[in-house]
Amino acid sequence: MRVSVIGCGYVGLVTAACLAQTGHQVKCLDIDVDRVEQLRRGVCPIFEPGLEEVIANGLRDHTLSFTAEIEEACREVDVIFIAVGTPSGEDGSADTGYVLAAAGQIAAHLDQAAIVVVKSTVPVGTCDAVARRVAEGLGGRGVRFAVTVVSNPEFLKEGAAVNDFMKPDRIIVGTEDRQAIQRMRELYAPFNRNHDRMMFMDVRSAELTKYAANAMLATKISFINEIANIAELVNADIEKVRQGIGADPRIGHHFIYPGCGFGGSCFPKDVRALEATALDRNYRPRLLRAVREINDRQKQRLVEKVHDYFDGELRGRVFALWGLSFKPQTDDMRAAPSRVVMEALWRSGASVRAYDPQAMEACQAIYGDREGLSLLGTKEAAIKGADALIICTEWKGFWAPDFDYLVETLKTPVIFDGRNLFDPSLVTAKGLDYIGIGRSGQGQATPGLRLQAGSNRNDSLLDKTGGPVPFQNSRSATVPGIWGGPDQAA
Ligand SMILES: NC(=O)c1ccc[n+]([C@@H]2O[C@H](COP(=O)([O-])OP(=O)(O)OC[C@H]3O[C@@H](n4cnc5c(N)ncnc54)[C@H](O)[C@@H]3O)[C@@H](O)[C@H]2O)c1
Repeated sequence: MRVSVIGCGYVGLVTAACLAQTGHQVKCLDIDVDRVEQLRRGVCPIFEPGLEEVIANGLRDHTLSFTAEIEEACREVDVIFIAVGTPSGEDGSADTGYVLAAAGQIAAHLDQAAIVVVKSTVPVGTCDAVARRVAEGLGGRGVRFAVTVVSNPEFLKEGAAVNDFMKPDRIIVGTEDRQAIQRMRELYAPFNRNHDRMMFMDVRSAELTKYAANAMLATKISFINEIANIAELVNADIEKVRQGIGADPRIGHHFIYPGCGFGGSCFPKDVRALEATALDRNYRPRLLRAVREINDRQKQRLVEKVHDYFDGELRGRVFALWGLSFKPQTDDMRAAPSRVVMEALWRSGASVRAYDPQAMEACQAIYGDREGLSLLGTKEAAIKGADALIICTEWKGFWAPDFDYLVETLKTPVIFDGRNLFDPSLVTAKGLDYIGIGRSGQGQATPGLRLQAGSNRNDSLLDKTGGPVPFQNSRSATVPGIWGGPDQAA
């Protein structure tokens, strides 16, 4: 089939390249001319495992091309995907401006019957608005041919996007038009061979399915983070609790990892947008609001722990930060917890030496050459001259660090682990203090060991006898150095 995809972002590029891989003739359009030029040369503008190769295959086989001209994208086409961004508006609702603009462009240039597929995540009712925009545009030009608007939300995960698209667990299609159902079956046939993954439903249900899926996943994360916060207050270990509840097949082990909050371009904005949809209909979505608020709070947790540990004296301190992207296997820093952490540290007068395997350019693009930020080429280099280490993303390369190097190099051997990568007893036995999320057994390095460690570290944490001074938590006698209190419980 002849396919065009509007938007060469994470979703548009993956959609275009994967469809082209199966033999469909695909043109991918973006308004960003530099991006289009780059893509024509086979250079992928984002880090997404396997994507550059699929793009290269499409270019080599002449099934994939890139353009900045809407006329080109609308010429001789059967299916046009809209895969542009739907960012949060000021009130939290999804801004569908880019989607409707794309619909207007299609209406202004389309010359034959086609199916318009809305792949962007859009609030319920948007596909109807797209259909109206297209009909108005065609009417204004005095042309008449059938254009069916179909909802086809995307469920790919950044970091595994190519595989997710190639082997989807479901393909949701919102349309009740029989011809469109047939065409969508043809389009997706190469991805639907093993068993039927296609689910057809009305447009509005399809639109809502996407929001419901992301809200459910976000809820799981905020739930486990809430339990992690309670675990800290009662001196229980969230890792044990996580495994204990995950063993129940009704709960399962997926998506119940505690940490420093969810980020990315989808969950935060989609939860807010769904909340806005409900409020717009005079319904107060209490659960969605709680999910969002818990997450906003959770993103502050690491910095609160750092504040507690250093008794609020952060001015002039230097923090090594491992992991900038909102999750591993992507360079995406949209709404990443690392940003909340860095910005809070800067406000406190501290500086950051950061390392990420893929997101350094993204970080540079966001913050430029700002004071207080050094981007280092290796995780070891980030440690040099740092007071302490903060981990924000669970990249595989961080899972087994050289603890001896950390002890020797950090001025105050302590890890603030926003992803619970390590067993606290292992880290403390190595001579580092360890502060995770909801862990019991976190806290001080094993007595004695810490004394041998870190010749250049800040000795202010040692008492007169040479032993480590327990860090004081103003609110808890049993769990050292953690945040808690009534505001958390509220
Ligand atoms: N990123 C994800 O993991 C993911 C997953 C599922 C769904 N989604 C949804 O898919 C949509 C796209 O997300 P994304 O992450 O790919 O966005 P993105 O910001 O990475 O890409 C959007 C692209 O669209 C281009 N664009 C905007 N208006 C255009 C126009 N009129 N013509 C041509 N190009 C135009 C932009 O230049 C940009 O390159 C959003 O609604 C998002 O919520 C994203």
